[in-house]
Amino acid sequence: MLIKASNIVAGYGGEPVLNGIDLSIDSGQIGVIVGPNGAGKSTALKSVFGLIQLTQGTVSLAGDDVTHVPPDQRVSLGISYVPQEMNIFPSLTVRENLEMGAFIRNDDFSSVIDNMYDLFPPLKQKATAVAGQLSGGQRQMVAIARALMIGPRLLLLDEPTVGLSPAFVYEIIERIKAIAARGVGVLIVEQNARRALEIADIGFVLAAGKNLYTDSGENLLNDPEVAKSFLGG
Ligand SMILES: Nc1ncnc2c1ncn2[C@@H]1O[C@H](COP(=O)(O)OP(=O)(O)OP(=O)(O)O)[C@@H](O)[C@H]1O
Ligand SMILES: [Mg+2]
Repeated sequence: MLIKASNIVAGYGGEPVLNGIDLSIDSGQIGVIVGPNGAGKSTALKSVFGLIQLTQGTVSLAGDDVTHVPPDQRVSLGISYVPQEMNIFPSLTVRENLEMGAFIRNDDFSSVIDNMYDLFPPLKQKATAVAGQLSGGQRQMVAIARALMIGPRLLLLDEPTVGLSPAFVYEIIERIKAIAARGVGVLIVEQNARRALEIADIGFVLAAGKNLYTDSGENLLNDPEVAKSFLGG
């Protein structure tokens, strides 16, 4: 497994928010975390990145235990995280945002920037535009492209399509497929659950800090109980 989080118990000081969850995906796979508001989806992603301390459980990256490795070192190990909010530098240009994403690289990364422009063509046209002035969908592209600049093995995305128009939701989902096709493991929290599960190799339905269902995206979409409770019927 590329990433394997086992029996995670974690929270913010009071009662634990996560009560022993398991998440794992392989390289090139798309894992999708869905569940109701407050279920602990964002907390699960933060646990994988090391932003909160675990009271129990382990996280391993390609078999190496990283449970106690701080987030900046997880970046060096190839984990990139895109939080739901404040995930770009709004006063910098698109290109400068990408350059910031390459902060741990000391090689010539201009070809990596060109790769990002291939993956997200609108960003090439907007290379010198100030990122804060872009549309929501384009800002999300900047955030994802910035996170890809280190050439991660694992990309963590918290609600990458929230608030976007259907056209941009489609665009972002397609790009996520392309990123995984390059061999990157992608673990996503999504509220566009149905659309995201369509591309999920594995889906995790969380509720009240527990794994309620874990199965292929297809099986979850076809499960009447999951559909009724978590996919709006
Ligand atoms: N920084 C924090 N400090 C204290 N409690 C927090 C913090 N962040 C989240 N929580 C609490 O943890 C629980 C789970 O929150 P989390 O953000 O992980 O849920 P979520 O599934 O991502 O929800 P949403 O769909 O609304 O984004 C909630 O009860 C929330 O109030
Ligand atoms: Mg959340």
